[in-house]
Amino acid sequence: MQDTTATGFTPETPLILGMMRLHNHPELTQPARLADWVAARLDEGLNVFDHADIYGAGQCEKLFGDALRAHPTLTKRVRVITKAGIVPAVQDSTPWQVKHYRAEADYLGNAIDKALGSLSVERIDTFLIHRPDPLLQAAEVARVLEDAVSAGKVRQIGVSNFLPEQWRWLARNTRLPLVCNQSQLSLTHTTPLFDGTLEAHLTDGIRWLAWSPLGGGNLAERIPADLLSRAREETGLDETALAIAWLRQIPGTPVPVIGSMNPDRIRCALHGARSQLPRPLWYRLLESARNMAVA
Ligand SMILES: NC(=O)c1ccc[n+]([C@@H]2O[C@H](COP(=O)([O-])OP(=O)(O)OC[C@H]3O[C@@H](n4cnc5c(N)ncnc54)[C@H](OP(=O)(O)O)[C@@H]3O)[C@@H](O)[C@H]2O)c1
Repeated sequence: MQDTTATGFTPETPLILGMMRLHNHPELTQPARLADWVAARLDEGLNVFDHADIYGAGQCEKLFGDALRAHPTLTKRVRVITKAGIVPAVQDSTPWQVKHYRAEADYLGNAIDKALGSLSVERIDTFLIHRPDPLLQAAEVARVLEDAVSAGKVRQIGVSNFLPEQWRWLARNTRLPLVCNQSQLSLTHTTPLFDGTLEAHLTDGIRWLAWSPLGGGNLAERIPADLLSRAREETGLDETALAIAWLRQIPGTPVPVIGSMNPDRIRCALHGARSQLPRPLWYRLLESARNMAVA
C-alpha cells in the first residue's frame, strides 16, 4: 500500500504553476532553458506543476518531460499534477469529430501510463479527472485509480470542475480520499463563493485548487485602474499580488494555479500569497469585480 497521506500541496503551498500555456513560450521550448526556469521556481519554493494531457495537444507534458530528461536531478524536486478525461474534437478519430469526455476506466488507466512517459516521472503526485462525465461509471473508475495508487504510479487522486454532488458520488465509490477539486475561482469568477460551493469544499475537506486566479489576464477589465492604484498605495501590492492575496484569504486557503510563466509576475504572485488584505479592501475589490454593491 502506497503512502497516500503525504500530499504534494499543503495549506502552506503558496501557488501552483500551471503549464497550460507552456507551448506558447518559444523561449522555453529548449529543454535546457525550461530546466533553468523550473530550477529557478524550485529555488523560490514553488515545486508543484499543473499539467493535463490536452495542454498544447500533448506538447506541454512532453516539453516538461524533455526538460527533466535533460536535467534529471530536478525530477526528485518537482511534484506534478496531471489530468485526463477530455477528448478535443480534433483528437476524436471517429467520423463524429466531437469533443467529448472519457472518464472511463481503461482510458484513464492508459492516460496515466502515457503521462508518466511524457512527463518523465516515476510517479504522478496528483491525478485528476479533468471534467465531470455524465457517463462516468464511478465504481469502475475508482478501481482503476486505486490500482494506479497501489502500483505506485499515482500518489493521490482528485477531481477538476466537479460540483459537490459529483465529487461525493465518486468519493462514495472509493476508499481513497479525493484530495482536491481544481476549479475556476478568482476576482473575475466569484459565483462559487455565493452558491454553497465554497462551504462544500470546507465540509468535505477537499482542497480547492483555483484555476485562472488572475482571470486569464482580464482583471483590469473588471477592476478600474484608479481602484488598483489606491489599493496599491494602501498595501504596496500590484494587481497580480492583490488578486492572489484576495484568493488566499478565502476560508480553506485555496491554492491559486497561476498560468503566467513570467518570472516577475510569478514573484509578485508569491508576494501576494504571503500578504493579507484589510477586510474592507477585500470587499471593495469584490464589489468592483462583480459590479454589484454588497447587499
Ligand atoms: N482544470 C481546468 O479545467 C483548468 C482550466 C484552465 C486552466 N487550468 C490551469 O490553470 C492554470 C492557469 O490558468 P490561466 O493561465 O488562465 O491563469 P491566470 O494566471 O489567471 O492567467 C495567466 C495569463 O494571464 C496573463 N496575465 C496575467 N496578469 C496579466 C496582466 N496584468 N497583464 C497582462 N497579462 C496578464 C498572463 O500573461 P503573462 O504570461 O505575460 O504573465 C497569462 O497569459 C493553467 O496553466 C492550467 O494549469 C485548469
